[in-house]
Amino acid sequence: MLATKIRAAFAPCSLGAWPTPLEEQPSLARALGLGTLWLKREDRAGGNKVRGLEFLFAGVPPQSVFVTVGATGSSHCLTTARCARARGHHTAVALFPQPETEASGRIARATAEAATVVIRARSLIGLPWAALRAWRAAQRLGSGTPHWIPGGGADPRAVIGHVLAALELETQLAPAPDVIVVPLGTGGTAAGIALAIAWLGWSTEVIAVRVAPWFVANRWRTLRLARKTAALIRQTGIEFNVPRSAIRVRVVDAMGKGYGHPTREGERARALAAEYAVRLDPTYGAKAFGFLQRADVKVQRVVFWHTFAWP
Ligand SMILES: Cc1ncc(COP(=O)(O)O)c(C=O)c1O
Repeated sequence: MLATKIRAAFAPCSLGAWPTPLEEQPSLARALGLGTLWLKREDRAGGNKVRGLEFLFAGVPPQSVFVTVGATGSSHCLTTARCARARGHHTAVALFPQPETEASGRIARATAEAATVVIRARSLIGLPWAALRAWRAAQRLGSGTPHWIPGGGADPRAVIGHVLAALELETQLAPAPDVIVVPLGTGGTAAGIALAIAWLGWSTEVIAVRVAPWFVANRWRTLRLARKTAALIRQTGIEFNVPRSAIRVRVVDAMGKGYGHPTREGERARALAAEYAVRLDPTYGAKAFGFLQRADVKVQRVVFWHTFAWP
C-alpha cells in the first residue's frame, strides 16, 4: 500500500490519531440541496496542520528550534508551537495582525503560551523584519541551527501528510466523491489532496476555496507544490508516477475584503453549519463552506475538508 511505503520511507513522527473520521451529514446535505455530504474531520486530530508537522519534525533531534511566520490567528503557528513543545522543541514565531474574531483571539492567546518567542509585526509589511528578529532569537535558544518552516507549512515534505489524508478516503468511501471542497491558504493541503486524487485515478474535482490574497493562494503555487511533492516521494525509490496533467485543482475565490475578514456569505454558511452542530471558523471553514451554498453549485457527492480545530 502506498501509505505504508510512504510512512516507511519518511518515518514521520506521531502527532495525531489517524485516520480522521469521515462523517456523513444527511440533514445538512438536504439543507444545502446536495445529494450526500461528508465531512473529513481533520479538526478531530488537531487540525490540518498536524499532518504536515509529522513530516517536518521527522528525525529532528530534541531541543531543536523551529522558526515560522503567520497571522496572529494562524492555526499553523499555534499548531507548530504546540506540537514542537510536546516533543521537547522550541518555537520562535513572527506574527502579523489580522482582524480580531473569537477564533483569531483564542489562537493568538494560545500561541503566546505555547511558543518560546513571539515577535509581532505592526503590519504585513513589517513581517520580514519580524521574521529576522525571530530567527536571531531562535539562534540564541537551542543548540543547532534553527529549522525554518515556511508560512502555513507550505513545504513539499509537509504536503506528504496531506497526501496520506486524502489516501485515507479510499478506505472510507466508495465510489469516489464528485468533489472535494477545501479552504485554500498557502496551498499545501489542497496540493496533497490533488496529488492523491491524481494517483488514485479518481475523476473527483478538487475545489480549493481561496481565502487569502492571490500571491499566496493560487493554482500555480498549489500545483507546483504538488509536483515537488511527487518528485520527493519518487526520490525515495517509491514508484509514484502521476502524469502532470492529472494533477488538477479548481480555485474559486471567497476571500472578500481580505484575509481573516469575515464575509457575509461565509457567516451565513457558518450559521447554517452551526444549526447542525458543525462549528466552523470565519477565516477558513466558513468561507470554504459558503461555496456549497452558492446557487450554481449542483453536485451530488461532496466531501468537505473540515480543517479548523478550536483551541
Ligand atoms: C484552519 C485552516 N484551514 C485551512 C488552511 C489552509 O491550508 P493551506 O495553507 O495548506 O492551504 C489553513 C492554513 O493555515 C488553516 O489554518
